[in-house]
Amino acid sequence: MVLEVHTRKHIEERVRAGVLEQGTVELLTEMGVADRLKREGLVHHGVEFRFRGQGHRIDFQSLVGRSITIYAQQEVVKDLVAARLATGGQIVFEAEDATVHDLASKSPKIRYRKDGVEHELACDFIAGCDGFHGVCRASIEKSLTIYDRTYPFAWLGILAQAPPSSEELIYANHELGFALLSMRSPEISRLYIQCDPDEDIANWPDARIWEQLHLRFATRDGAWKLTEGPVIQKNIAEMRSFVADPMQYGRLFLAGDAAHIVPPTGAKGLNLAATDARVLARAIANFYSSGGTDLMERYSEICLRRCWKVQHFSWWMTSMLHRIPGESAFDQQRQLAELDYVTSSRAASTALAEHYTGLPFTM
Ligand code: DHB
Repeated sequence: MVLEVHTRKHIEERVRAGVLEQGTVELLTEMGVADRLKREGLVHHGVEFRFRGQGHRIDFQSLVGRSITIYAQQEVVKDLVAARLATGGQIVFEAEDATVHDLASKSPKIRYRKDGVEHELACDFIAGCDGFHGVCRASIEKSLTIYDRTYPFAWLGILAQAPPSSEELIYANHELGFALLSMRSPEISRLYIQCDPDEDIANWPDARIWEQLHLRFATRDGAWKLTEGPVIQKNIAEMRSFVADPMQYGRLFLAGDAAHIVPPTGAKGLNLAATDARVLARAIANFYSSGGTDLMERYSEICLRRCWKVQHFSWWMTSMLHRIPGESAFDQQRQLAELDYVTSSRAASTALAEHYTGLPFTM
């Protein structure tokens, strides 16, 4: 049984991430929910880092033989909702005021309200996939160790009705701040610029955003051109790293953003959530087929091991690419040297490609 606080329309339209690791694509394929993804997803075999006004491509294919796929998170959500309903699974949309109870017992409970009527669900297990602001982690916070870090900058993101100006993603380190060129389709660009975390979006009319994008992506030879188009969505996202340990209390298992947040640089949030779900699904399947609880007992350890590697990667990408308030000229040169090394050393670019396309799945 899936309980969802929002409407179906809301979760199917909400603009979120857009990069799927190869392992996530394989998982969705194994589950039989990748038909549209295979048709509409854009497969990328590399990525560009741009600094000192020059582009440097990392070729995933030749380095690790793997790729990523651009396919918006809300499209994954649409496919999962459709598959769940088509196979007779239940999703309760607009479930209000959900609370969790008796978590240490063999029959934990969820209480919620739907259309003004109170309900109580008796469960074998609860998967707390209710995000960073959800009730699941909050209900067990006292038993958790929390690791938390906020960053002194944010991302202003736009969706623009403009064909992407590059076939592959571009991560730009510029003295005015970080910029990222991504896309959702051959017609829609997704672009981000670094801004202050307490910035008011009203201070960012479209013209100012485009001006900053042109400046931050400009190449030294002046040859590269950014295509503009009508802005159809605009938002500011704060950035933090967060881990709750352990990811379990009794029969409640936290998964995805309920347990951990990564800064967006490197696009790992959705992918990390998908691997939590993969481990938890196996653990639950194993329990029902053989009564075995070994995987359940190891759930948190398995997920956190991967989580911390991904935390490190996301923090590292973030630190290498942004202007950090108060940083010295030394720090800026060190960042540029790191980018220079990452894009010129085979060993370093292989490590980046391995992380970016997704670490191997291990349990
Ligand atoms: C996107 C987001 C990211 O955080 C990233 O690193 C790459 C792409 C995106 O929304 O397309």
